[in-house]
Amino acid sequence: MTEQSTKLALPVGVALDRFIKRKQEDFPYASGELSQLLRDIALAGKIINGEIRRSGLEGIEGPYGTDNVHGEKQQKLDVIANIRFQRALKNGGEVSAIISEEEDKVINLDCPNGKYIVAMDPLDGSSNIDVNVSIGTIFSIYRRESTIGTDVDDRDFMQKGRSQVAAGYILYGSSTMLVYTTGRGVNGFTYEPSLGEFFLSHPNIRMPESGNIYSVNEGYLDYFDQSDRDFIQDCRDKGFTARYIGSLVADFHRNLMKGGIYMYPSNKKSPEGKLRLLYECNALAFIAEQAGGAATDGFQPTLDIDPSSLHQRAPLYIGSKNLVESLLSFK
Ligand code: AHG
Ligand code: MN
Ligand code: MN
Repeated sequence: MTEQSTKLALPVGVALDRFIKRKQEDFPYASGELSQLLRDIALAGKIINGEIRRSGLEGIEGPYGTDNVHGEKQQKLDVIANIRFQRALKNGGEVSAIISEEEDKVINLDCPNGKYIVAMDPLDGSSNIDVNVSIGTIFSIYRRESTIGTDVDDRDFMQKGRSQVAAGYILYGSSTMLVYTTGRGVNGFTYEPSLGEFFLSHPNIRMPESGNIYSVNEGYLDYFDQSDRDFIQDCRDKGFTARYIGSLVADFHRNLMKGGIYMYPSNKKSPEGKLRLLYECNALAFIAEQAGGAATDGFQPTLDIDPSSLHQRAPLYIGSKNLVESLLSFK
């Protein structure tokens, strides 16, 4: 094979490190910092993966005894995952600040020269941790807009999702997968525990344009608006199947692979919806669009929402393009 064709091939089985390096070669002036940052995230993911897999044996299941900024009970693994990611990103030096579901305020990482800022949900689906059901990690990477060398504040994070430089998730499921995009398609890597490495397993993921899965917590049906109830009824009338795990990453990943729509509408119990715009909705919206799917809050594409606070919530409808369009026709 010529050098050029080796570059283009990126075969299934290539290790994540090599994949990142080859992708970086596509950008002659890239400094390598984003590549290193992605490696840091993968490293934290490996550590957390090990802790999740052993959690039943190590006494790290159950509640930690504190509430987070949203008033939700923190699980021990929520707190551990939050620490692991902060450490990995701090040690890397590319990230000047993070926001996390588990932290009230912006955390400056004592790396003021870091070009990037990261929004993360260290562990998503925490109600599923103790019952051996799939959970995940979500991350969004932005370039910081304030002067390098100064402290980062909330304003740096008030960027639309469309400004994301990269985003991804790690799914701790029946296998562990890292799925990410840098705005040039979506690639998925499967973790091989005996080798301690992620390998490309799902190159250039495309979300089916349509599908027959709808994913929503139907226990809240009576609290939903009429338009959402009508859409759900339409899914039933069309003979769709219902699938809802209660871990956004896992529900999204299944629909990404098979085609479907996930929805967490605003409702009488949660007027703004439940999911957080900056570290849940935006990352998955970026991946959905990059894979040919769509994401909306019911009025505008999720990636075009102008954020006004760190922990703001947004309704989310995300999945196959035709299904999101169908949902919008009910609005
Ligand atoms: P987290 O554990 O990070 O707080 O997120 C849980 C989220 C999301 O993963 C899931 O889809 C949703 O909450 C489930 O909410 P309901 O239990 O209200 O359906
Ligand atoms: Mn979450
Ligand atoms: Mn979480």
